Amino acid sequence: MGKASPASDSSSLFEFLDHTHREIQQQLQGLRELMDTMDDQGLTPATRALATQALDYFNGAARQHHLDEEKHVFPALLGSQNPQVIQVTEQLVQDHGWLEENWLEIEPSISAVASGNLWFEPAALRQALTVFEALYLDHMQLEESVAYPEAQRRLLPSDAAGAGREMAKRRSQATKHP
Ligand SMILES: [Fe+2]
Ligand SMILES: [Fe+2]
Repeated sequence: MGKASPASDSSSLFEFLDHTHREIQQQLQGLRELMDTMDDQGLTPATRALATQALDYFNGAARQHHLDEEKHVFPALLGSQNPQVIQVTEQLVQDHGWLEENWLEIEPSISAVASGNLWFEPAALRQALTVFEALYLDHMQLEESVAYPEAQRRLLPSDAAGAGREMAKRRSQATKHP
């Protein structure tokens, strides 16, 4: 889902990252709707479609977003002289590991919904999703309040523009070949 958000200069790199955060929030909300709809109606074409959409997003664009940050944003912060900035960045990298671990725990159940099976325990899935969502929201808040503004000050405009172009190009290719 989502259209490409062209990132052709340094400020659009961060617009692109912010745009992806909005998408992630929508997808997290989609997972909540999935659980609510399953509680009310069980497995329906709508729940299966929500599950398929979430699988595509968290296996694809969300993972790529973490890689983009680790490649284009965090290195500039780890080179900071400010110990607090370094500490926040190390925490953000660690969060990516926790988010991946959480998603790997959740993914088989969502995959089961997408293929029309209900072998898992819904209460356990709901609990895992609550943890996943809370961690993701805290993580994005820390990035938007500390990491992105700091990186925006530290990144060379030419590097940021190159990163923005790379992301926009990849996204437009993904839109053409989903
Ligand atoms: Fe991140
Ligand atoms: Fe992020």
